[in-house]
Amino acid sequence: MSKHLIIKKKIKEFNKQIIVSSDKSISIRWVLLASLANGISKAQNLLMSEDVKAAIFAVRKLGIKVKVEDKICKIYGKGIDGYKYKNKITIDAKNSGTLGRLILGLLVNTTKTIKIIGDTSLSKRDFKRVTDPLSKFGAKFELKKNKYLPLSIKGSLNLKPVNYFEKRGSAQCKSALIFAGLRTSGTTIIKAKKSRNHTELLCRHLKLPIKIKNKKKYDLIEVKKAKNIKTLNYKIPTDISSSAFFIVLTALSKNSKLLIKNVNINQSRLGILIILKKMGVNIKLKNTKIYKGEKNANIEIKSSKNISPINCPTSLNTSAIDEFLVIFLVAAKAKGVSYFKDLSELNQKESPRLIWGAKILNEMGVKTIISKNSIKIFGQPNLSINKKIIIKNFLKDHRVFMTSVIAALSFGGVWKIHDKDSIKTSFPNFLKIINDLKK
Ligand code: S3P
Repeated sequence: MSKHLIIKKKIKEFNKQIIVSSDKSISIRWVLLASLANGISKAQNLLMSEDVKAAIFAVRKLGIKVKVEDKICKIYGKGIDGYKYKNKITIDAKNSGTLGRLILGLLVNTTKTIKIIGDTSLSKRDFKRVTDPLSKFGAKFELKKNKYLPLSIKGSLNLKPVNYFEKRGSAQCKSALIFAGLRTSGTTIIKAKKSRNHTELLCRHLKLPIKIKNKKKYDLIEVKKAKNIKTLNYKIPTDISSSAFFIVLTALSKNSKLLIKNVNINQSRLGILIILKKMGVNIKLKNTKIYKGEKNANIEIKSSKNISPINCPTSLNTSAIDEFLVIFLVAAKAKGVSYFKDLSELNQKESPRLIWGAKILNEMGVKTIISKNSIKIFGQPNLSINKKIIIKNFLKDHRVFMTSVIAALSFGGVWKIHDKDSIKTSFPNFLKIINDLKK
């Protein structure tokens, strides 16, 4: 199979309904929590991407049976203390920051040393942000250059609760701390800048000992030691971060309309919809339902004739963090200059995405100015590309690949986009949906 994709034409108008891949954050959290439940948990529509498969391999390494048949995944939990810690276990988190960081919270009471490794991209990402607070519980860590994978964790049987302020708005750090709190006697208190709250909602649904007070800018979370975890049958909804590519493709295409079914619209992930609506994109939520504490809805998008520039409020940064690359494509078509500020966290992702966002736009002939962690994008409402563009060496970042595909289909030009397999990380059927839209 060729490792790159060539796109030579813009997409023609479309009017369709699509089903996008399931939510990655919820899928990984389900695997981890189900692995500690008392009995068999079943998930429908679990995302079968490389990141989630890595989570399944990880819990198997810890002695938990997992069966995947048709669209059902069954995890045979052996209770909250059911992990088997053999000698010399290595867990490969592959590309997944969520897996690599969250699982540490569950391993704080290991009796053996466990090694965590990851791929080239994950090995460049900061793990100190999670090992520092977890060591306050009493777990011991060794990291490459004090910050990176590979790392080793050796837990403690004498964990102490912590009181920690998570200031970055990192759901991965917050979740790792919640998991560690569930393993620790006493009350762990986490003051956390707002970030996606799937872990809290799942814990609440499972009636685990967690209390959450929502303040304006942060949440106060109190966690106590869990005695057991009930089994969790769950139908995973669609991922808004994967849907984002099609939301933007529709907004940028002529005379098109799209309905994306059953998307998770958790408030802490809605940044993209709020930003695009402010820019004049026509988006409607339909048939909103609550499912096990999460909100899901169908999203309807129509082509947008006039796109306005935005001075993006920084309060939306965390809730749109995974979507900025495609949001920048919308800004490229706006009538005026858009401004996105304080995006240091964007350079902490699978690749330095602020830099990659600018690179893609510059290749397209769109002017950008980056200063510190902010970007100005000089939109061109009539942008049409007539040249050859090659996108490569982007650390196989799935979202850089998919953003480039959407740019090619929206603005034209001849694109050669390397590392096609990167979509397997989060959205294995991405290109199939694109092909269905072309039919
Ligand atoms: C995720 C949290 C976010 C997000 C990532 C998935 C999660 O990262 O960017 O893609 O599932 O908890 P941070 O928590 O590091 O900001």
